[in-house]
Amino acid sequence: MAPPLASNVGRHAGSPEGRNYLARVPLTGMVGSITVDGVRYLGNNMPSFAALSDADIASVVGYVLREFNGVADLTWLTRASLPACVKAAVRRTKPTSNAAACRRRQEVRAMQKVLTLALLGMTASLAWAGPDAGSPRMNYMLHCSGCHGPDGSGSPSSGVPSMRGTLGHFLKVKDGREFLIQVPGTSQSSLSHRDTAELANWLLKTFSPLEVPANTLPYSTEEVARLRNDPLADAPGRRAEIVQHLKEQGIAID
Ligand code: HEC
Repeated sequence: MAPPLASNVGRHAGSPEGRNYLARVPLTGMVGSITVDGVRYLGNNMPSFAALSDADIASVVGYVLREFNGVADLTWLTRASLPACVKAAVRRTKPTSNAAACRRRQEVRAMQKVLTLALLGMTASLAWAGPDAGSPRMNYMLHCSGCHGPDGSGSPSSGVPSMRGTLGHFLKVKDGREFLIQVPGTSQSSLSHRDTAELANWLLKTFSPLEVPANTLPYSTEEVARLRNDPLADAPGRRAEIVQHLKEQGIAID
C-alpha cells in the first residue's frame, strides 16, 4: 500500500524544511520504506515527476495540501520554492532536439495521467525508470535526495539517518558492506546495477571519505547485481546489528 496523502503531508507545510521536502518529493520520487502515523509502508516506488513543469508541480502540491489536508495559507508555494539544486539537475536532462522535445511532451502527458491516479490514492507503486543515464551526483539528486537531503544529512527525526561521516564505518564490520547495497533505497531504485555501483562509490567518497578503510575495493557492477538479488527481510533489524557491532569497536553512530 502507498502511504496516505490525506491528513498527513499537511504537517510539513509549517516549516521551511517541510516545504522544501514537499517540493522535492514529486521531483525525485521515492523508493523504500516510510513511516506515517506509526504504520510502516514498505517497498514504495513512487516515480519522479521531474518531467512536469515547476508550475505544475507547485499546483499539484497545492491541491493536495488544500483539498486533503485543509492547509489554507499556500502563498509560500510558488515555483520559486522548488529547491534550486534539484531544478538545476532537472534542467540538464532537458531534451535538445525537436524529436526529443516531442517525445518528452508525450511523456509529460502520460505522467500527468499517472499523477492523477497517484493522487486518487490508488497506488504509488508505478515503475517509471526516469532519466537513468546521469552522473552519480544527478542520480543521487533524482532518486535519493528526496529522503536523504541534497547533502546526505537525511532527516534523523523521521528515521532517515545521516550519511555524513558515517557511511564509511559500515565497511568495517560484518555485513556492513552488503547492507549499503541491500538497503531498500539502494536495492529497489530503478537505476541499473552499473549506475548503482557508481552511485554507491560516489556516496562513500562524497559523504564519508575519512571513514572508508584503506585498501577498500570499489563496488563492482557484478557485486551490486548479486546483492540486489539477495534482499534483506528486515533492513532496520540488520542495521541495528551493524550499529551494535560498530559500538563494540568503539564507533558510535545513531
Ligand atoms: C523513501 C525514502 C528513501 C529514499 C528515496 C532513499 N532512501 Fe536510503 N534510506 C532510507 C531509510 C529510512 C534508511 C534507513 C534504513 C531503513 O530503515 O531502511 C535508509 C538508509 C540508506 C543507506 C544506509 C545508511 C544507514 O545509515 O542506514 C544507504 C546507503 C541508502 N539509504 C542509500 C540510498 C540510495 C543510494 C538511494 C537512492 C538510489 C536511497 N537511499 C533512497 C530512506 C530512503
